[in-house]
Amino acid sequence: MTRRTPVIAGNWKMNTTPDEGKELAIGIASGCDQLDGVEVIVCPPFTGLAAAAEATANSAISVGAQNISSEPSGAFTGEISAAMLEGLVTHVIVGHSERRALYGETDEQIAAKAVAAAAAGLSPIVCVGESLEVRQSGQAIEFVENQLRESLSGYTAWNQLIVAYEPVWAIGTGEAATPQQAQEIIAAIRAGISGIAGDEHASRTRVLYGGSVNSTNIGPFMDRPDIDGALVGGASLKSDEFVGIVEVAARLSAEAS
Ligand code: 13P
Repeated sequence: MTRRTPVIAGNWKMNTTPDEGKELAIGIASGCDQLDGVEVIVCPPFTGLAAAAEATANSAISVGAQNISSEPSGAFTGEISAAMLEGLVTHVIVGHSERRALYGETDEQIAAKAVAAAAAGLSPIVCVGESLEVRQSGQAIEFVENQLRESLSGYTAWNQLIVAYEPVWAIGTGEAATPQQAQEIIAAIRAGISGIAGDEHASRTRVLYGGSVNSTNIGPFMDRPDIDGALVGGASLKSDEFVGIVEVAARLSAEAS
């Protein structure tokens, strides 16, 4: 079986002033200093990217943005293109459920963003996940498979891709999915990637779980064979808590190797 380096990514969402973000990035960088075997990514708001890039410059921590435009440049007031992030980030979240639900982003737009990110040399973290209504209707697997396929339409940079399964009902609710529920969908996501790009890419792509992850519940997710880490919201805003998640992932990764 391919061994995949685990990823713990923090999505700060619309939080932190520039000073708060700088302090948080410094705290995370120093807390993760001695931890190996886990790829750590912090995703501050745009206004915090420069400070985070500086604070993590001498560390193994990567910086990601939370969104990008699919357009390269021009008359798109308020938007940020992949090229504008050059030197600041290596990753970018695309298709977060909040972008989909609150700003009407479609699978087609998300696919265009993922393609634009990869073309600029960034790793897109493509998010998928079903609503509570879809889960209760018993259609979660089919829904996520379809969302994944559509959100990766035209995408070819398989070595750069990270996928995050974030069930909408588990985000910010304190009610994480069970590791079994996450494993089931993430196995289907991996099978979906295999269908599009082949087994080799499917077995190498990191697929994360997101939704109410904290340092107490992360362990059993990491123990599942297809779950490669977490995309963390609320718990990424406190350096101790976020570092605690990375510590668990690092320990389990060391035990598994
Ligand atoms: P929470 O960890 O706050 O549930 O948020 C998850 C998320 O949306 C990360 O992108």
